[in-house]
Amino acid sequence: MSQNSFLHLQTRRLTLRPFALDDTALAARILRNPRVVFWRKKRMPVNDIRKGVKRSVDKLNPYGLGWWLLFEKDSDELVGSIMLQPLANTFHIEIGYHLLPAHWGKGYATEAARLILSFGFQALGLRHIHAVVLARNRPSLGVIGKLGFEQKGTLIHANLVHRNYRLERNDYLAKKKTTS
Ligand SMILES: CC(C)(COP(=O)(O)OP(=O)(O)OC[C@H]1O[C@@H](n2cnc3c(N)ncnc32)[C@H](O)[C@@H]1OP(=O)(O)O)[C@@H](O)C(=O)NCCC(=O)NCCS
Repeated sequence: MSQNSFLHLQTRRLTLRPFALDDTALAARILRNPRVVFWRKKRMPVNDIRKGVKRSVDKLNPYGLGWWLLFEKDSDELVGSIMLQPLANTFHIEIGYHLLPAHWGKGYATEAARLILSFGFQALGLRHIHAVVLARNRPSLGVIGKLGFEQKGTLIHANLVHRNYRLERNDYLAKKKTTS
């Protein structure tokens, strides 16, 4: 069994597997797509993506954190990615998701995020999880709203003003109990 087998997860419609060292090309399909990372002025260099993949595997996975690739069970197609990682300035753990446009609007981000939140709160024991979202990112705000995050002011992230959202473990688990 591989060292990070506890990071291999699934939802009803998706399989999630942590980035492996040879996933740079798959990660680049997502993170160099200008419709996905619409806030970036320039495409992310492939070498930076390679470093990000390596950081996920070497530095984050040992703590149960990192980036996962999402695949559609029915088709085996790449759907996108989701991550749990420390924010650069505050070190709070943030959730983030990036889906390929062909898979927008199917509820996949919400489905994957619910699993990753449960994983973060229950398996990792995190007390709260953050999300940083641009005020103009309506689709992401929709996901955040469905998951029950509350806004706690704003912060500068990647040189842009973002809304800073936070979800408490107790609130998430109480809500999950009443809805499941
Ligand atoms: C944000 C993103 C992950 C949403 O993925 P998705 O799988 O389409 O989202 P879901 O289908 O789970 O949508 C959940 C809710 O978000 C809202 N939403 C989704 N797409 C929307 C859109 N285009 N406009 C307005 N609201 C939208 C809706 O409220 C939706 O709930 P509903 O289907 O019950 O109406 C996807 O659009 C994406 O990858 N965008 C580019 C990358 C990005 O912005 N990442 C987030 C950075 S903070």
